[in-house]
Amino acid sequence: MFFKYLVLFFLFISFSISAKSKAPVRAKKGMVVSASEIASNVGVDILKKGGNAVDAAVATAFALAVTYPQAGNIGGGGFMVIHLKDGTNTTIDFREKAPQSAFRDMFLDEDGNFDIRKSTEGWTSSGVPGSVAGMLFALKKYGTMSRKEVMQPALKLASGGFPITYRFAKALNYYKAEFVKHESTKKIFTKENKLFYEGELLIQKDLAKTLSLIIKNGSDGFYKGEVANLISKQSKENGGLISVEDLANYSHAERTPIFGTYRGNKIVSMGPPSSGGIALMEALNSLENFKFEQNSWGSSEYIHTVSEVLKYVYADRAEHLGDEDFYPVPKKWLISKERGKEIATLVGKNAVPSNKISHANPPKKESEETTHYSVVDYKGNAVSVTTTLNSTFGNKIVVEGAGFLLNNEMDDFSAKPGTANQFGLLGGEANSIEPNKRMLSAMTPTIVLNSNNKPYIVVGAPGGSTIITTVMQIILNVIDFDMDIQEAINRPRFHHQWKPEQIDYEHLGMTDDVKKNLISKGHFIGRERTLGRAEGIIIDYKNNIIWGASDPRGYGKAVGY
Ligand code: DON
Repeated sequence: MFFKYLVLFFLFISFSISAKSKAPVRAKKGMVVSASEIASNVGVDILKKGGNAVDAAVATAFALAVTYPQAGNIGGGGFMVIHLKDGTNTTIDFREKAPQSAFRDMFLDEDGNFDIRKSTEGWTSSGVPGSVAGMLFALKKYGTMSRKEVMQPALKLASGGFPITYRFAKALNYYKAEFVKHESTKKIFTKENKLFYEGELLIQKDLAKTLSLIIKNGSDGFYKGEVANLISKQSKENGGLISVEDLANYSHAERTPIFGTYRGNKIVSMGPPSSGGIALMEALNSLENFKFEQNSWGSSEYIHTVSEVLKYVYADRAEHLGDEDFYPVPKKWLISKERGKEIATLVGKNAVPSNKISHANPPKKESEETTHYSVVDYKGNAVSVTTTLNSTFGNKIVVEGAGFLLNNEMDDFSAKPGTANQFGLLGGEANSIEPNKRMLSAMTPTIVLNSNNKPYIVVGAPGGSTIITTVMQIILNVIDFDMDIQEAINRPRFHHQWKPEQIDYEHLGMTDDVKKNLISKGHFIGRERTLGRAEGIIIDYKNNIIWGASDPRGYGKAVGY
């Protein structure tokens, strides 16, 4: 009898385990989760050598610029959210800036229509890169190691080459037709009459030279001298706007994070010029007014509630968000519990049509505020970084002689009110093009602290406009649905951004019944597609375990020790 129960017990355990995702990666001391296994290893090696999470994050960033040129970069920009063991929370904004000669209507054609090719292709699409300035500032202020120590691994990977993975080879081959349009890109990222194959070495000599100059001269190695001259000369020759002065004048900014709480946990996220932290908080503040039963996950009621909230959040985003150095963002109101509650009261049984929803306005004027990787070290520091060239491989233009790809981030500006960018996002005055302004982002690098103010979840993702909803759903999956970090990341996601008026979803994310119920509530079912590629960490203090998970939608890796 006892034996029978024992067998049944083990059967139960094995079934309940097999119904879940594979367990996350487990570690005791530190963890780096990035879109490239080689880059994650670079970060962990730095931790093992005694570096802190910031040292590891900077080393990982430069390694990603070599091994994951789809989004890892020195020709783009991004955001870093830092929590230090002494309780400090801060963010570094190294978002690209519009060149000095950029102007409001620069992407309109003679008839005044938005020409998306101008904002996504060619030299006009590039903002002044921020990654090198941001990384070196983070290292100097919050790191412990020298530039050489953290950049040497990237330099070695660029000069000696690294074996490319199956998926990376596929990505390079997929974009061949675009790469060959630019001699400088063709030379590095294509092969004459042949395709890349898994395991071969990709060597990037010019990039190695640029990295050496940065190691030697710091920011000046990129923003002044040889590299700056190459960028500005080629920009001028090809109708671009980035000048030597734009590069010399680029500045990163250290900014106060967006703070909020969700069901007793403290959220630390990125503020303007990213909309990520504000939109995430506005959504969470509203969703806090609802109670989600454990088995309501994936139900039409759950998807309806979250989608309705998101419509108001994205409507507010389109109206109110932009670079705060240029536009007064009503930040306090947007992330207030009151605004969250107000949205919650507008959620009814049926969907409100998107054209009946418009942004709200703050009660009174306030006085006044894409690849992701997550790092934690054993000292209690945590770093959450999202960085991007915007489109995959940016505008696909390598700076000849300098070996790196340029961003096409100018498309994140609102080129014409009421006209959507490549992510279908709308915007207005707040995000119009102005010289030296930073384009609005959706990047949402986030650290969730527990009630003891210690890092609990470190998470972020690429995915354009879907970044915010990806990060939000992972936080809901962990906090409301009690999932581990791997499962929280794996579960199919959905996405609503107010306009277009539709719920996009992932494969197996919505059954026909759920779709029918949502349609009967007045929703429109959109496209089935991949939504975000998250890289996350959870720290379990009770058992002293760091759990890491890379998104199966990509081919990254969580590496711990
Ligand atoms: O800053 C932003 O919101 C976009 N440039 C991010 C682009 C992105 O996530 C591309 N990855 N899929």
